[in-house]
Amino acid sequence: MGADFSNSMLFEAEKKMWQQNYKNVDLILADDETIWDKLNLSFDRITATEVIQYMTPEQIDAFIQHASNYLNEEGKIVLFDIIDPRLYSLWKVGWFSQNFRFWKTLPRVGMGYFKQISAILKNRPRDIIGDSHSPYLIEKIANKHGFKTEHVKSMYYEYRYHTILSKDIMRPLRICEALAEGLRSSYFTT
Ligand SMILES: C[S@@+](CC[C@H](N)C(=O)[O-])C[C@H]1O[C@@H](n2cnc3c(N)ncnc32)[C@H](O)[C@@H]1O
Repeated sequence: MGADFSNSMLFEAEKKMWQQNYKNVDLILADDETIWDKLNLSFDRITATEVIQYMTPEQIDAFIQHASNYLNEEGKIVLFDIIDPRLYSLWKVGWFSQNFRFWKTLPRVGMGYFKQISAILKNRPRDIIGDSHSPYLIEKIANKHGFKTEHVKSMYYEYRYHTILSKDIMRPLRICEALAEGLRSSYFTT
């Protein structure tokens, strides 16, 4: 099953499915909020590829929370191609290019700041490819919903990474241990 809120993108997906002779795929017109009401089954994997960059931290939080209700046992959520803010800044000034020269980066850094301030003042997105989200933020949101995370570097883009979220089955045990420890220490201090 595939979903996108753009009809033309679903059309492109459909063309690819014909070319590859994929038969048992349903395509749905929906966004990160409306998709859940259209589902009546659960999944082994729920993935989002190059989409997280268009979502706010609040949307990512809600997406993970909803997705966790539609996962089979041992199911995983995989967020592909998230933009890492630290590496993206370096990529933009040419850090990963073969002929990187520090002094050449200074005008680019200045221009980058100018463009960002101008975008903020005009209330436009700060970057045309969307927003970056650090692995720490994704991990914090995932942990909140009972997932542990594994981050994997993209093979194709120096500044992108993938995050695999799996249910943290040891979490309830750790919470019980922490509670027991809290009770024990309060018993001895009273
Ligand atoms: C860079 S494209 C990636 C398309 C596809 N996932 C792929 O890997 O080829 C980003 C896609 O995300 C879709 N998109 C962005 N925000 C979305 C949202 N909140 N809900 C559903 N689709 C969204 C856009 O319509 C666009 O087709």
